[in-house]
Amino acid sequence: MRVAPKEIQTFRDDFTYTNSPEAIQRFPFPFPEDDYRYSVNMEPHTPKGGEGSAYEKFLDIDEHYLSEMKERSLVLKDMPHRCLAMEHMDLACWDMIERCMVSLAEDYPEHFVLECDGDNWTWENKLLDIKDTFVFGDSSTLPMPPMEYMGRQLQGDFALLDQREGDLFLDAGIITCPADWSLAFDAGMSFSEWHGPVPMAHSEGIFERALKYLTAIQVGKPVRRLNWTMTINARMDTSPETYHEWGHERTSVTPENVGEKVYLRVELQVLDRMPRSNAMMFSIRTYLMSLEDIVSNPEWAKRMHRVMKTLPAPLIDYKGLTRYHGMVVDYLSQFDKAN
Ligand code: HEM
Repeated sequence: MRVAPKEIQTFRDDFTYTNSPEAIQRFPFPFPEDDYRYSVNMEPHTPKGGEGSAYEKFLDIDEHYLSEMKERSLVLKDMPHRCLAMEHMDLACWDMIERCMVSLAEDYPEHFVLECDGDNWTWENKLLDIKDTFVFGDSSTLPMPPMEYMGRQLQGDFALLDQREGDLFLDAGIITCPADWSLAFDAGMSFSEWHGPVPMAHSEGIFERALKYLTAIQVGKPVRRLNWTMTINARMDTSPETYHEWGHERTSVTPENVGEKVYLRVELQVLDRMPRSNAMMFSIRTYLMSLEDIVSNPEWAKRMHRVMKTLPAPLIDYKGLTRYHGMVVDYLSQFDKAN
């Protein structure tokens, strides 16, 4: 793990966010083929790619940790409703505390320490200078509700899905860096309801098959998938709630600045069954990489050109790329000699 010892970088205003050469190298590039179509792209979440890979640990903590935690606190200060947990999700929130604390302490012992004496737990997060003793299961002993407490110490967004009647319901989450969707709007919805706006996938039966797969996931057998879109500037919080701040930035892309302004936004999503509540924990870990940094890898540049060139129109539209998609294809074409 390489946590940045450097100053905190920003995902808004002056956008000081950068990726180090190591971060570029470990970026979870999402295109296994020259064309991209929606599919049920899930695999067991087991270590892959060796030491330092984004797939090495259950939760990936990297050089952007401090910057992302700062960004999360800024969002929650303005919009506390970006974190919500319905009452019946209380046990699932404690499941999340246990799963995340235990795995962080095992995977990154130099930064996180957990001591459990029966229900009396002491948690230390050396990166954020946090040390708290609490009674597991008793929210009154934590400085804030359990999901928020944990979510403020984890990179990426988290949702907790209640499973009932063979379906999943979005009944809790801490969502401060979504790719244009709103927790407040989707709260309480079922799997096919919150996926309602996605084009093509419904008629191809993708969500039906995915839901079957998800509802059968067992404790201790997490699965992962990648999702992707694009964002202008290194902006983490592209929520409908803040659309007025970022929507217009799509018009700022020009052939001259496309490489530096347009970011590939990749979500490493992990689904994990919670043991006490039977809920699913869904983590959405977002990685941002400018096209300029992507093309530093010739294979990625070539592959991405082909993917972008053949992307179906409904996906271009749904992902919000319409205004600048042509410039992205033109920019990438210079790195694909066959075209
Ligand atoms: C159970 C946990 C999951 C949650 C909470 C979740 C949530 C979401 C949300 C909120 C959206 C945005 C919809 C909108 O436009 O408003 C979305 C998009 C999408 N989801 Fe899921 N999802 C989950 C699992 C999955 C799985 C397992 C698949 C596998 C096929 C999947 C496939 C997709 C696809 C293809 C999109 C469109 C993404 C794009 O083109 O950018 N989701 N999901």
